[in-house]
Amino acid sequence: MFLSRLIYIFTIFIVEIVVAKNGSSQHFPENFLFGVSSSAYQIEGGWDSDGKGPSIWDEFTHLHPEKIVDRQNGDVGANSYEYYLDDVEAVKSLNMNFYRFSISWTRILPTGDLTQVNEKGIEYYNKIINKLIEYKIEPMVTMYHFDLPAHLQLLGGFANSAIVQYFEEYANLLFNRFGDRVKYWITINEAAEFCVKGYGGKIHAPGINAHGKGEYLCVHNALKSHAVAYHLYKREYYNQYKGQVGIALDSSFFYSDSNDTVVVNREMQFTLGWIAHPIFSSDGDYPAVMIDRIANHSKAEGRLVSRLPTFSNHWKRTIQGTSDFFGLNYYTSRYIRESLEPIGENPSVARDRGNERFTKPEWIKGASDWLYSVPKGLGDLLRWIKAEYNNPEVIITENGWSDDDRLEDDSRVTYFHDHLEQVLDVILNNGCNVKAFSVWSLVDNFEWSQGYTEKFGMFFVNMSSPRKERIPKKSAYFMEELIKKRSIPGI
Ligand code: NOJ
Repeated sequence: MFLSRLIYIFTIFIVEIVVAKNGSSQHFPENFLFGVSSSAYQIEGGWDSDGKGPSIWDEFTHLHPEKIVDRQNGDVGANSYEYYLDDVEAVKSLNMNFYRFSISWTRILPTGDLTQVNEKGIEYYNKIINKLIEYKIEPMVTMYHFDLPAHLQLLGGFANSAIVQYFEEYANLLFNRFGDRVKYWITINEAAEFCVKGYGGKIHAPGINAHGKGEYLCVHNALKSHAVAYHLYKREYYNQYKGQVGIALDSSFFYSDSNDTVVVNREMQFTLGWIAHPIFSSDGDYPAVMIDRIANHSKAEGRLVSRLPTFSNHWKRTIQGTSDFFGLNYYTSRYIRESLEPIGENPSVARDRGNERFTKPEWIKGASDWLYSVPKGLGDLLRWIKAEYNNPEVIITENGWSDDDRLEDDSRVTYFHDHLEQVLDVILNNGCNVKAFSVWSLVDNFEWSQGYTEKFGMFFVNMSSPRKERIPKKSAYFMEELIKKRSIPGI
């Protein structure tokens, strides 16, 4: 009796060690949601089909193929315009609770404004939404994922405050036509990313390269656009449809070898706080450290006003609190140290921040230059968000890993395993209010300036076949099992 009890205890002990090393015996909360994300330009193709107008990415890739590593574009890509049913079936095969996809603005409004509404475009998204609903998969719609109507770019795009009105009208059309079935709306994806690379820099469309000025104007108008769309929904649609409206922000977490908290805080505020502080903080507006530093730099440059635009009290109040959840895109982290020399272009947000970023040799690198696996960074970032913004409801809208072309994508499996462990840990042990996790991405797709050279999909796409067949990779099976068990499988 005593011996068998001893053997029993010993066996449990061994099982626990194995589970702790590999999988997890702990479960995701019952109401936790799993999903997968994509975006229109990256997967749809059909760039001029059925009345779609040109977006800035159509123009950028057509006029400047040299700006894309493999000189490719999204003209056809995975051709979800024709094969969207394959995408929906793929999402269903994983038992996902939701599918996050974006709407191509110019498929619906070819010139970006209400001059012409393209019913064929509306029909396309209706077909996707209805199929998802039939399969009991929640549609989560991103309204803007980098593909501005070319026509609105002629007016300056996000550098011109006129965009706010156009965005509101576009949002109104989407709420009006899809709001009865779409309960999760994301206004704008990664404003810092497209503003820094497309307005401050030249590597993303529209490639303005007005560094130190363009990125600030762009974020300013993106924040206003987001806020007016949020208020419009609450005013005109919420009572009837009861949906949620949020925004998706991208951020790394930052570490300092010397525990320099001032420098870490500055980097966090210039990165995540830039967009999050005006919306989620209790005082609103841009972070004080940004306002002060950019004002000082601007003065030293002989300018009469800061390069960082200011919000009136009206706009501060209008923007503050405009998100029902905190959409977070997390991929990687960095170490930082204060730079002794001026850094980055003159002027630029990098120079205004004033820190050098670096990585650690032990960090494993993906196929993208910038992507190192730092799972702990996700845990630390979620704890930081909890402390900084009073524990908002967080939806991890993107987390993903690039590799070269392989079906046995073990590095992606490890990446998801390790990052989901962090998510579980912050929920169970730190009380972080994380409600959902979405994988980037469903199928291999057009990775912006990297073209098709970096693969982020859980499904391989046979690009050389006209039928663009989707084939599940090992990571797809891993996620399927995880969702079924609601705990992290061993690897
Ligand atoms: C975030 C962006 O939203 C998405 O479009 C991109 O493909 C991934 N990061 C990977 O770089």
